[in-house]
Amino acid sequence: MNKNVFITGTAQGIGRAIAIRFAQAGARVTGMDVDSKLNAETAGLAGDRFVALEGDVSSAADVTACVTLCGPVDILVNNAATVAGDGLLHEVTEEAWDRVSSVCLKSIFLCTKAVLPGMMERRSGVILSLGSINALTGLHLAAYTAAKGGVLSLTRLLAQQYGGVQVVGIDYWGKDWEYSKKVCEKNAQAANVENRVHFQKGDAAALDFANDTFDGAISHLTFHEVKSVADKKLVLQAAL
Ligand SMILES: NC(=O)c1ccc[n+]([C@@H]2O[C@H](COP(=O)([O-])OP(=O)(O)OC[C@H]3O[C@@H](n4cnc5c(N)ncnc54)[C@H](O)[C@@H]3O)[C@@H](O)[C@H]2O)c1
Repeated sequence: MNKNVFITGTAQGIGRAIAIRFAQAGARVTGMDVDSKLNAETAGLAGDRFVALEGDVSSAADVTACVTLCGPVDILVNNAATVAGDGLLHEVTEEAWDRVSSVCLKSIFLCTKAVLPGMMERRSGVILSLGSINALTGLHLAAYTAAKGGVLSLTRLLAQQYGGVQVVGIDYWGKDWEYSKKVCEKNAQAANVENRVHFQKGDAAALDFANDTFDGAISHLTFHEVKSVADKKLVLQAAL
């Protein structure tokens, strides 16, 4: 895969798994994370096609510096997130709210803004933002849920403004797949994007949070979605 991929939050979890998957497929991968120690471990696992960069995704200066070091980005994966200090709304401090919002949502503004001009010039690119079922159901975690709602809305806005969009719903709730699908469909209808919504059901392993295969399966799904559109025109995707 002859692509230049920029991924945020690669020091662990899903971001690390996505990075390894792309590197294995032959892409050049740049992984930005605040945790340089764990990101170095990712580098050890991903091999020499992976470059680990230290930076805070909520800082414009850090994002600009890292994207510049990466070079022209073919695929952006907005993955970094935090829930530190989040919880029931009446218990969340202003500082925690701002931090969670910035890392989960502002980061997508910053990273997307940094890569879009080049993608528009080349008329090619993929932007994938990791969302959450929280955005649809308001489960728990006040600031995170609000931010992920923003991710969904922002992706729709980008879809309208930059075209060629697929919205991909990835189900994290295996047993409630039908329910999740229904909520997603309703949501898409409300946003008038029903023709563009494509539902992708994760396999059983992807839905077992306690199982090590969770990350791999999710990234596998993501990888295929990205790969299938990477050679086409500008495409934006949201994993719900
Ligand atoms: N794990 C789940 O169950 C789940 C479910 C739905 C959605 N998601 C979404 O998938 C994505 C990955 O989730 P995960 O479980 O792998 O997360 P995680 O917490 O395991 O990893 C997040 C990574 O982001 C990095 N990070 C945090 N703040 C940062 C900052 N300011 N700048 C740069 N990097 C920063 C962390 O160091 C870490 O490496 C997130 O967007 C999350 O919201 C996860």
